[in-house]
Amino acid sequence: MNRYYKEIDGKPTTQNQLPGETVYGEETIKKTNEYRVWKPERSKYAAMLEKTNQKPPIKPNDKTLYLGAASGTTASHLSDLQPEGTIYCIEYSPRTLQDLTKKCKNRKNMIPIHGDANKPQTYQKYIPIVDNLYQDITQKNQAEITNKNTEKFLKPGGNIILMIKARSIDITGNAEKIIEKEIQKLQNIEIKQKTPLNPIHTDHMAIHAKYKPKQP
Ligand SMILES: C[S@@+](CC[C@H](N)C(=O)[O-])C[C@H]1O[C@@H](n2cnc3c(N)ncnc32)[C@H](O)[C@@H]1O
Repeated sequence: MNRYYKEIDGKPTTQNQLPGETVYGEETIKKTNEYRVWKPERSKYAAMLEKTNQKPPIKPNDKTLYLGAASGTTASHLSDLQPEGTIYCIEYSPRTLQDLTKKCKNRKNMIPIHGDANKPQTYQKYIPIVDNLYQDITQKNQAEITNKNTEKFLKPGGNIILMIKARSIDITGNAEKIIEKEIQKLQNIEIKQKTPLNPIHTDHMAIHAKYKPKQP
C-alpha cells in the first residue's frame, strides 16, 4: 500500500511533497502533514481508484513513464505518491509542455519531455526501464502506442494503466465495442481490471494490466 495516498473526510488525497504549493488550484487539507485533494472529476486515475475502491498500484520509489502528461494535473499526484522515484512526463504540445514545466518546476521528481508517444525512439535516451507505464492520450491508435512503449521501457511484470477514450477512436459507434476492439490490439499483457469511468468521464475505460513479454 502507498502510504502517501489517504482518504480524508471521504476525499481521496495525496500527501503534498511541497507543502504550501498547489499545482492547479486544488483544495488542500492540513493535518500533521498537508494533503492535496485528488478529485475523480479532474483525473481519470482518481476516478479509476474511486470506482474500484483500490489504492494506487505504485510504490514510493517507482519510476513511471507518463504518456500525455498535459499540464500535470494527474502527474503531480503521482509525484506525491513517488517522492523517492521519478515520473518521465511525455507531452506532444509545446505550449502545454511549457505550462507543465512552469507548474512543476519545484517538483524535482517530474521530468517534462517534449515527445511524440508514437515515436519512442525520439525520447529513449532520457528514459530508463520503468516500473509503470501510464497512458492518457487522445489518439486513434492508443493500443499501438501502448505496445510500442511497453516493449521499449516497461519491466516484465510492470503495471500498465491505460485510459481508453472511445470518442478519440470513433465519434459515433457503440463506445463499449470500440473500446473492446482496442483492448484486443494490446500485446503481451495480462488484464487485471477494466473499469468504465461513466458517468465521471463519459465513454472512457480505465485498464490496469501487467506486462508479460514472451520468453525468448
Ligand atoms: C486527455 S489529455 C491528458 C490529461 C492528463 N493525463 C491528466 O490527467 O492530467 C491528453 C494529452 O495527450 C497529449 N498528446 C496527444 N497526442 C500525443 C502524442 N502523440 N504524444 C504525446 N502526447 C500527446 C495532448 O497534447 C494532451 O495534453
